[in-house]
Amino acid sequence: MHDQAQALRHLVLSRNRPPSRQTRIVTVTSGKGGVGKSNFSLNFAIALQRRGYSVLLFDADMGMANIDVLLGIPAQYNLLHLLRREKTIWEIIQTGPGGLQFIAGGSGFKDLVRLSEEELEYFADQIGKLHGHVDFLLFDTGAGLTKETLRFIVAAQETIVVTTPEPTSITDAYALIKMVKTMGHNVDFRLVVNRTSDDREGQQTADNIRQVVGKYLGLDLPLLGFVPDDALVSKAVKRQTALAIAYPDSPACRGIERIASRFLSEETVRETGGVRTFLQRMRRLWS
Ligand SMILES: Nc1ncnc2c1ncn2[C@@H]1O[C@H](COP(=O)(O)OP(=O)(O)OP(=O)(O)O)[C@@H](O)[C@H]1O
Ligand SMILES: [Mg+2]
Repeated sequence: MHDQAQALRHLVLSRNRPPSRQTRIVTVTSGKGGVGKSNFSLNFAIALQRRGYSVLLFDADMGMANIDVLLGIPAQYNLLHLLRREKTIWEIIQTGPGGLQFIAGGSGFKDLVRLSEEELEYFADQIGKLHGHVDFLLFDTGAGLTKETLRFIVAAQETIVVTTPEPTSITDAYALIKMVKTMGHNVDFRLVVNRTSDDREGQQTADNIRQVVGKYLGLDLPLLGFVPDDALVSKAVKRQTALAIAYPDSPACRGIERIASRFLSEETVRETGGVRTFLQRMRRLWS
């Protein structure tokens, strides 16, 4: 195991990238559950990898393991092993398609709130080791705005909100942004509209939510793009293969590819301080 961990560390470190670059931490979330966060996160991560960035996808949906199931890669170790201090961060990282690194969530786990101070410290310490090792640390959060999800959103400060064109999904996305803003947190939200029937519907959905968020919360909600409703997503899920691998030319995959390009081209992102600042914010939220 130790050898494997070292090999992995070496692999990560040997990536050809400027050493000064900080790990950018991004949370993927939604108001309503089941809108496509996990599928988006996984294929978005692969799209970033394909553009030459190293990504660690972190299944932060504690209680419902997801990413490993989507990939059909049974997780030998998961977040639970880390939280129980049985494994180090290097030992729970697995490698998926295209060299994508991921950490499985582990089912049956309730919440971080119930962890002891020492367990939390260990968790934070281990996450801290990721500093500078990957370009992107992507957190896929679970359904509903739980305390954990809120911590990840606030600590990451960069959040992609996924909604579908359905009014229930839109209002829940708005409620989530409002909650974070009302609590006084400063988070950069960006929008992805998933399962659109066409671009017009996607644009209308985006216009609606952006208008309300602007009017009532005084926030800008930049649009990253649309992902069409595509039966191949469900097919890929059933095959337990990432859409980007099973159907790279599918409409949904192309939508996610466009979003990845746009995401990388935007210069608007504020300097959020990488892993260390993320951990400071996490610790503050725990206390
Ligand atoms: N673009 C799409 N086109 C068609 N179906 C989709 C699309 N995106 C997601 N789905 C369907 O929605 C289901 C739920 O997706 P996913 O598990 O990614 O949602 P989630 O937001 O992560 O759910 P949870 O809130 O439970 O974590 C998928 O199994 C798939 O069948
Ligand atoms: Mg999910």
